Amino acid sequence: MEIQGSAGRFAELDAQALAVAVFKDEKADEGVLKELDQATGGVVRSVIESEELKGKEGETVYVHLSSDGSGIKARRLLLIGVGERGEYNRAGVSQMAGTAARFLRGKNVKSVAIVPRAEGDAEIIAAAAAEGSVISLFDPDKYRTVEKEERSIDRITISVEGADEDALKRSAERGRIIGEAVNFTRDLANEPGAYMTPTDMAERALDIAKEFGLSIDVLDEARMEQEGMGALLSVSRGSDQPAKLIVMRYTPTGEAAQQDGNLLAFVGKGITFDSGGISLKPGENMELMKYDMTGGATVLGAMRAIAQLKPPISVLGVVPSSENLPSGKATKPGDVVKAMSGKTIEIINTDAEGRLILADAIAYAKKIGAKRIIDMATLTGAVSIALGDVNTAILGTDQALIDEVIASGKEVGEKFWQLPLDKEYTKQIKSDIADIKNVGGKKGGTITAAAFLKEFAEDISWAHLDIAGTAWADDAKPYRSKGPTGIAVRTLINFVDREVRKAASQNEGDEKQG
Ligand code: BES
Ligand code: MN
Ligand code: ZN
Repeated sequence: MEIQGSAGRFAELDAQALAVAVFKDEKADEGVLKELDQATGGVVRSVIESEELKGKEGETVYVHLSSDGSGIKARRLLLIGVGERGEYNRAGVSQMAGTAARFLRGKNVKSVAIVPRAEGDAEIIAAAAAEGSVISLFDPDKYRTVEKEERSIDRITISVEGADEDALKRSAERGRIIGEAVNFTRDLANEPGAYMTPTDMAERALDIAKEFGLSIDVLDEARMEQEGMGALLSVSRGSDQPAKLIVMRYTPTGEAAQQDGNLLAFVGKGITFDSGGISLKPGENMELMKYDMTGGATVLGAMRAIAQLKPPISVLGVVPSSENLPSGKATKPGDVVKAMSGKTIEIINTDAEGRLILADAIAYAKKIGAKRIIDMATLTGAVSIALGDVNTAILGTDQALIDEVIASGKEVGEKFWQLPLDKEYTKQIKSDIADIKNVGGKKGGTITAAAFLKEFAEDISWAHLDIAGTAWADDAKPYRSKGPTGIAVRTLINFVDREVRKAASQNEGDEKQG
């Protein structure tokens, strides 16, 4: 699929269908809608005056236009409600464009022109629209052979009248890169455990590294042994598939490249199937535990985009990957293991495995120079009880880092809600036999899991995202299929982008002062 920007007049756009945003309670007697109404021989006025469309977010009205007397090239028109004009932002644009692309694909339209109509930075708007349309066209039906969605769009044009053509072109490309990164993560998350073992995950990482130019190191179990990663190795012990620790690094080149004094690392849980181990999970919904590697897939997706967007700062991506299965060799409740950091852990429940593999991955990230860590994991069922599928939980030790992640997410329409991490919670993970235990009891499950990770992050700047409630959608939205959501990929990419912009404006300030 081709995706492009256009600064020309929307009436002249060459596409089978035109999709146009309509604000809440907007009338057809001024501005863009008036123009569109005149060009369509009164269709827009009729749709609005009949109150078929009130501009409420997500509303759609779709019409075919007659070929005589019409002032626009497209023969089909889709009007999409986007809510209040004052609340319509980058995230709204992404959803509007997604709704347009997904809806029109369903009508077998091959070429689409999207008019998002947001005010503000044309480049940001065009990128958001491109990203939203790419994301909307993902479906989780990879292994279906019948009744599969076979229709596809060949070309999408994002229209921002009067903008700079070259800038729009770059933005459409940027949006495509980000959208494809999100879909890459979703595709990995969606893969059955049999097709996405730790070795498969490492291979996907090697593929990205080769295609987009990242350095990569994959530690096998022998090297984990040398590093003393007893926590990570205790999880893979029950499985026939060997664990892998994927370590990727993006290093900028060129004049703008910045020093790594404050090296940023993304760390993601890569459990390719979580049966619970000896503490076996109940059968109901266990098939979903193929998505327990989504945190790792999120890191790979973000690294894939970063390699293409080439920001001037270095980024590390670390993904511990393992299966969690029961067998005669598996770790048992009551066992004590020694983590890379030297801390000893009593295993109370082998189903609390994510925190074990992350403990060693965080220690390793620190060893190779990370100064700031953002980890993400489908870590606890408890987070769904606390926050449902709307907000992702965020906890950590550095409030400035947490605030920055929340702000990065807000801009791209991904919601984070901070949970507390007072030191009192650490009492719940004290062990009678070892330094700590891997389960903190019934109370505050998401918090005590984070309190466990904090023991390994120690004094580093650290934030933790529990994506267990938000990484998988039970229902489809007009702009997104059900299944894997790719949550946090856009936030991480935007986080890096904001870092770069902050540094640039700081430099400018320094230059002015000096
Ligand atoms: N992968 C699960 C958490 C999970 C549950 C993710 C449901 C997505 C949906 C994690 O490894 C786990 O099993 N956590 C346990 C921890 C408990 C044993 C302390 C849980 O949440 O029940
Ligand atoms: Mn588990
Ligand atoms: Zn798990």
